Amino acid sequence: MIVTITLFPNMDVEQVFVGFDIRLWSICVNINKISYKLILYIFLISSTITVISVYFQLKNEYNEQIKQFEIELNNIKNNRLDILSQAIWTVDNDSIDMFLKDLVDNEKIIYAKIHEGNKELISLGKPKHIDVIEKEFIIRKTLNNKVRDIGKLVIIADLTPLYSYIGKRAIETTLIEIFKILIISLLVIFVIKKFLINYLEKMALYANNLSISNLHVALELKNSEDSQTNNEIDIVANSINSMRENLLSEIEKNRKNDNILAQQTKMAAMGEMIGNIAHQWRQPLSVITTAASGIKIEHEMNMLTDKRLIESLDGITKSAKHLSSTIDDFRDFFKQDKEKNTFNITGTFSKTLSLISNQFHNNEIKIIDDIESVVVFALENELIQVLINILNNSRDELLVKNDQELLIFINVYTKDTFMFIEIKDNAGGIKEDIIDRIFEPYFTTKHKAQGTGIGLYMSEEIISKHMNGTIDVNNEIFTYNNTQYKGARFVIKIPTV
Ligand SMILES: Nc1ncnc2c1ncn2[C@@H]1O[C@H](COP(=O)(O)OP(=O)(O)OP(=O)(O)O)[C@@H](O)[C@H]1O
Ligand SMILES: [Mg+2]
Repeated sequence: MIVTITLFPNMDVEQVFVGFDIRLWSICVNINKISYKLILYIFLISSTITVISVYFQLKNEYNEQIKQFEIELNNIKNNRLDILSQAIWTVDNDSIDMFLKDLVDNEKIIYAKIHEGNKELISLGKPKHIDVIEKEFIIRKTLNNKVRDIGKLVIIADLTPLYSYIGKRAIETTLIEIFKILIISLLVIFVIKKFLINYLEKMALYANNLSISNLHVALELKNSEDSQTNNEIDIVANSINSMRENLLSEIEKNRKNDNILAQQTKMAAMGEMIGNIAHQWRQPLSVITTAASGIKIEHEMNMLTDKRLIESLDGITKSAKHLSSTIDDFRDFFKQDKEKNTFNITGTFSKTLSLISNQFHNNEIKIIDDIESVVVFALENELIQVLINILNNSRDELLVKNDQELLIFINVYTKDTFMFIEIKDNAGGIKEDIIDRIFEPYFTTKHKAQGTGIGLYMSEEIISKHMNGTIDVNNEIFTYNNTQYKGARFVIKIPTV
């Protein structure tokens, strides 16, 4: 027998399960691949087992019925054949008729006939030859202690009712079993969904939503009351949580390292700045000293006029203001605040150049700039730090050249919603075999005392992580004042809004 069952998404099944708990049904509709497979396997295996067991069960029942019937027939032979033999012997036709009628009254027996010698004496019912049991009994009579065969009783019993009964039972039992399997499958899905798939889905959702900002939120699968037992799901959840904690501590470690790096870069920059401050202060300080000592001498010699006094005091005030403004520039640069603000890039460049100009002028490095007035919303001090890193790198490379003009080109422009800052020098460019590595931390080609190799690393961190921008480098060959040069070209791209 072949039983074909179509699984869920079919409409008919929905009708069959109308009486089911809606929740259970919705679970069945939403089942996923594992559940589908599981149901299929449960169904196939259980159906096969059911079919085999139903087959053997009904086969036994059939054999039992046939055996029972054989016993009934043998009872006829043992108990009633003597009566028939007597009726035939005495030619008692009424008794013979009665005997046959009695036989055919049995619902299974459809035909009976009696032979006397070779000739048919009497028959009752309709004979049939397919799906029947046919039995022949020899009718014997004992006369003077001698047994004589006086005839033959033929009985035909129809097996069709038995077959249709067995067929009905087969269908009934199979349907009941299939129904049981369906219920068990649904329960299995329900249990799997409740105890496994729900948790797997939660884990997948957690993994999908995981980001650095919510890494501190632990994965919690169960309510606190059922978290006593530690099953496989808990083990996986615990592993995910310990992985998360490891990640957190790694990130914290990296953050600390980054902070140390940032601090180191700042300290290095500060060293250079102090040189700058000293240089920038020398001139106003000498103006102040000269003016003050001039006033004093003129006063001692009674030569100090009011006009001269005012002029000198003005000079002192102007120089002091200049000192104060240089201090502001430097203090702003070392401020730790990470708040973005709106500023014009032209101002940023004038601050940057004033911070480093001294070294560039001293070394006769010419800066040729073409800076568009662009307002951006970003971290100005950090941008200044990046610009100083790039300009200082160019300066370091340019100082090795002594047979050419030393040039740095700064070009600032906007395109779409981005601001581009291009800084190019004519120092010969970066060797092709190291150009891919210059943004790595601690990569340097300079002597220990001159470079740590974190300048560009920090610059890229600042541009990409704090300003959502990019920083790229390439070597460029170009002509300036009829001379061909080669140099490194850095391009910073940051969104203006
Ligand atoms: N304009 C340039 N021309 C040629 N090479 C450059 C240029 N800018 C950077 N480089 C190369 O990239 C390397 C890395 O630069 P980076 O600024 O990261 O470190 P550094 O300048 O060596 O040290 P520091 O940490 O003091 O800045 C430099 O050592 C140099 O070899
Ligand atoms: Mg550097």
